[in-house]
Parts: sequence; structure tokens; C-alpha cells
Amino acid sequence: MIIAIDGPAASGKGTLGKRLAEHFGFAHLDTGLLYRGVARALLDAGLPLEDAASATRAAEALDLAGLDEDRLRGAEMGEAASVVAAFPDVRAALVELQRRFARRPEGAVLDGRDIGTAICPEAEVKIFVTASPEERAARRHRELLRRGEDVAYETVLADIRRRDARDSGRASAPLKAAEDARLLDTTALDIEAAFRAAVSLVENAKATLPAG
Ligand code: DC
Repeated sequence: MIIAIDGPAASGKGTLGKRLAEHFGFAHLDTGLLYRGVARALLDAGLPLEDAASATRAAEALDLAGLDEDRLRGAEMGEAASVVAAFPDVRAALVELQRRFARRPEGAVLDGRDIGTAICPEAEVKIFVTASPEERAARRHRELLRRGEDVAYETVLADIRRRDARDSGRASAPLKAAEDARLLDTTALDIEAAFRAAVSLVENAKATLPAG
């Protein structure tokens, strides 16, 4: 079974994806890490993020096992990832890796922006996680403060709005809910309530699958 979770930056889709995977015993891939890994490779090589050809080569050479999450987290890398993610060739270079992951025999949860629309349109469960920009900024702001990053709420909100605009506005596989995705608005939900809602969406989908 494939669970596709899409949604904008800081919507909570990563946490949800991780918890769903643990709950159902599935493998989990946070696909944002792939784009972050491409951006990191360019920055480490001293290349500009706008260099589409180098970004594509970095995407082709990307090794899932070599991604260092600690170095890829953080608002700056998210912004950089959003830039390289707009190049169609970068996206194309990462398709097969994601589809291979989705075919894991135990089941897979993939979260990102285009999982339900472009990577795994056949996914049995598609969840589009949203929350208002203000709520997402407040959550991200709290997280950054916890990590010792001293940044103003207004800056975080502006970053989120800019990233939403870039991710939704790009021509290649933009952030968009699949037509058959279930919307999960977490603006007024805490993580436990969002998790319970997501589990019941998956349980319902499982109940309608043919046995075997
Ligand atoms: O989910 P995230 O914040 O780690 O993603 C970082 C950026 O990567 C995001 O702004 C857009 C891009 N991305 C994408 O284009 N497609 C995906 N499936 C996942 C992330």
C-alpha cells in the first residue's frame, strides 16, 4: 500500500508521515530531503542554486543513504530546495528513486508536494495536509526558537508565503491537491488529533481494498 501525503511548508505533513509509517509498519520517505540534498550539494560545491545543469547532475547522483538529515533541516535549506525543485530536469531525475521507494513490499508513506499528483497517482491513500499560513508560521517559529535560532515571527511568515508562492506557482509538478486527495486542515488540530484523523482515513481506505 502507498500513502501519499502532500501539503505546503510546515503543514505538519512530515510528522504525520513519520507517525503513520510507524503505526502501520511502512517505510517512510520525506521527499523534501531529496531537494534539500540537491541544494546542499550545489552549495557545498560553491555553485549557484540557479545552475540548472549542475543541479540536475547533483539530482542524478543523489544517494538516499548518504543524506544527512541534520545538515539538511533548517529554513535556509528549505528555501534553497524550493529553488532547485522548480527545475523540471531536477524533478525528472528524482522520479524513479521515489517510485522505487514507493514499491517497498511492506508499504510506503511518501510526503512532499507532488506525490499524489505526479509521483504516485496510483496511491491507495492521498492526504493533502493544510493549515493557515499564520498557524504554520507560528509552529515553525516555535520550532526554530526551540532549536536556538533567533528569528522573528514576521520573517518566518514571509518565508512561508514566499515558499508557498514558488512551490504552487512553478510550471513543473506544482504543489496541488490531487483530485482524489482527502483534505486534512490542521489549523485547529494538535498533532494527536491530526494523527487520529489521518489514521482513520487510512483505515477507511484499507477497508475498501480487495483482500490479499
Ligand atoms: O518539505 P520540505 O520543506 O522539506 O521541502 C523543501 C522544498 O523542496 C519545498 O519548498 C519544495 C521542494 N519539494 C518539492 O518540490 N517536491 C517535493 N515532493 C518535496 C519538496
